[in-house]
Amino acid sequence: MPEFKIAPSLLAADFARLGEEAEAVLAAGGDLLHLDVMDNHYVPNLTIGPLACKALRKYGITADIDVHLMVQPVDNLIVEFAQAGASYISFHPEASRHVDRSLELIRQHGCKAGLAINPATSLSHLDYLWDKIDLLLIMSVNPGFGGQSFIPATLDKINKARQLILSSGKNIHLAVDGGIKIDNIYETAKAGADMFIAGSAIFSQPNYQHVITAMRNELKRILNLF
Ligand code: DX5
Ligand code: ZN
Repeated sequence: MPEFKIAPSLLAADFARLGEEAEAVLAAGGDLLHLDVMDNHYVPNLTIGPLACKALRKYGITADIDVHLMVQPVDNLIVEFAQAGASYISFHPEASRHVDRSLELIRQHGCKAGLAINPATSLSHLDYLWDKIDLLLIMSVNPGFGGQSFIPATLDKINKARQLILSSGKNIHLAVDGGIKIDNIYETAKAGADMFIAGSAIFSQPNYQHVITAMRNELKRILNLF
């Protein structure tokens, strides 16, 4: 039985109450927090920087913070987010001139390293990097906005990514990000994902715990396959 993790994406939270929202969604059963960093350059949207991550730590958040960098270039912000308390840092291979170096930089600064793969990006980017990553994040929407619809072709890609992780023999999380809801989380788990990033599905509802519990119940159905 895989160990499943649900990572609420704070992009859909109320930014005026970020600390409270983070605390509430963790109390509701979230395993770690996903923080979307957008620069209005690599993606056409602008969100938050290392200050917000630092503020969450100062507020008292001790859970893992999974920083998803949708920025170009990446190296300076890797260092800044590591210093601001990030646990995982992921970036898009197209956004770094030297992907191997950027991955090493993340680990040198004491964080777990991830690569984020867009819907139209090939898994071949991973070919020589299996020993450099702790997290492979498969985008199931194009990066830049919350609330988009899950792209069904992603299921096949998750499946291929799971096979590649198995043949690497490494302990690498396989995350899926974008359009994850109660009614499609099971399919993504069946395809091989073990970390589920969900923003609007959770924060659009008045009771976060209901949504997260319903997601976990869907994931429990996977047990029947083992
Ligand atoms: C999209 C972000 C996602 C986003 C997911 O660029 O990377 O993490 O917050 O939001 P939903 O779950 O609303 O699709
Ligand atoms: Zn994200």
